[in-house]
Amino acid sequence: MRKYRIALIPGDGTGPEVVAEGVKALNAISKKFDIEFQFNDLGLGGDRYLKDGTLIPDGLIDELRENYDAIYLGAIGHPEVKPGILERGILLRLRFDLDLYINLRPVILLPGVYTPIKDKGPEDIDFVVIRENTEGMYVGAGGFLNKGTPHEVAIQESINTRRGVERCIRYAFDYCRKRDKKRLVTLCAKTNVLNYESDLWFRVFEEVAKEYSDINTNYQHVDALCMWMIKNPEQFDVVVTNNMFGDIITDIGAIIQGGLGIAAGGNINPGKIAMFEPIGGSAPKYTGQGKINPLAAICAAQMILEYLNEEKAASLLMDAIKDTIKKLKSLDAGRMGYTTSEVGDMVANYIEQNG
Ligand code: IPM
Ligand code: MG
Repeated sequence: MRKYRIALIPGDGTGPEVVAEGVKALNAISKKFDIEFQFNDLGLGGDRYLKDGTLIPDGLIDELRENYDAIYLGAIGHPEVKPGILERGILLRLRFDLDLYINLRPVILLPGVYTPIKDKGPEDIDFVVIRENTEGMYVGAGGFLNKGTPHEVAIQESINTRRGVERCIRYAFDYCRKRDKKRLVTLCAKTNVLNYESDLWFRVFEEVAKEYSDINTNYQHVDALCMWMIKNPEQFDVVVTNNMFGDIITDIGAIIQGGLGIAAGGNINPGKIAMFEPIGGSAPKYTGQGKINPLAAICAAQMILEYLNEEKAASLLMDAIKDTIKKLKSLDAGRMGYTTSEVGDMVANYIEQNG
C-alpha cells in the first residue's frame, strides 16, 4: 500500500466545492489501486484571514515540507479582502517559501472541448508551458520615491539568478525528453528589449541546449509568441519562460484549451513537494450554487497522480475526465447540464466501472 499525505487548501468562494469533487475522484482511485490518500484540510483562505488575521500560520511551511507529498489548492480570493493580500500572503508565499520553482501548465485540448480558435482541434493544441515560478517581477523588489506626489517614481525590478534560470530551463529540456512528442523546446523572452534579463535567459538556454542534442530548440519574442499561440498552436511542444511572461501566456493557453472549466496547473519543486490547482479564481458569485465545473480541479488531481508517478491511476483518471466531457453540454459554469457534484459523480463512477 502506497500512502500519500495531501494538504488541502480549498480556499475561498467555489474552491471548496471543486476540491471536494477532486477528493471524490482520488478516493475512487484509491479503491482501485493500492494507494491510500490522507487528506488534511489546512483551513486557510479569506475567511480565516478575516477571522483572526492568519494567512500562513507559523511553522506550517516546515510541516508541509517535511510531512506532505502534495498540496491541493482550490482558489484564493475573497470579495471582502483587498486584492493582493491573499495572493501574496498565501499563494505566492507557498511558491516562494517551498521553492516551487516550476509552474507547469499543460495546454491540451481534449476531444469534444470547444476552442475559440477556428479550425483547430486536439491534434493542433497539445503543448506545455514551463514558467519560472519564484523569481522575476514577482519577487516584489522595488520601491517608491516621492509617493503620492506629482514626482512619484515606482520601480518594479525583475530578479533573475543564474541558478534560477538554469534549473528552470533544465527542467524544460528534461520534461520535453520525457514527454517525447515533437521534442522541441521554445524559449519565450524579449531579447530585442530586455538587454539584461532576456540576455541571461538566452545565453543559459543555448548552453543547456548543448547537453540535449536529441532535443530541438527555437526562440520567440513573447509578443510574437502570443500571436503564434493563436494562429499556429500546433508548432509548440514545450515552451519555457519567465514568471511574468508565463503568467500572461498561460491565460491564452487556458482559453484555447477550453477555458477555466478545464485548465489546471502545478507548482513544483521537483522531487520534493508540489502544489496543484485549477487555474480559475474563486468565482464568488457562483458560490454554493453547484454551477461551477469541477473538471479543472479534477485535472489538477490528475496532475497530482502524475507527479506521484502513479501512472496507471493518472491515466485512468484522464480517461474518466475525457468520458465525462462527452456527457456535458458545455464546460462553462451554469451551462454544463449537471451540477458540480453530479459531474464529480460521473468521474468517480467511471473509475469504479473501469480500470
Ligand atoms: C496564476 C495567477 C497568480 C499569478 C495570481 C493569482 C497571483 O494569475 O497562478 O497564474 O499571477 O501567478
Ligand atoms: Mg495567471
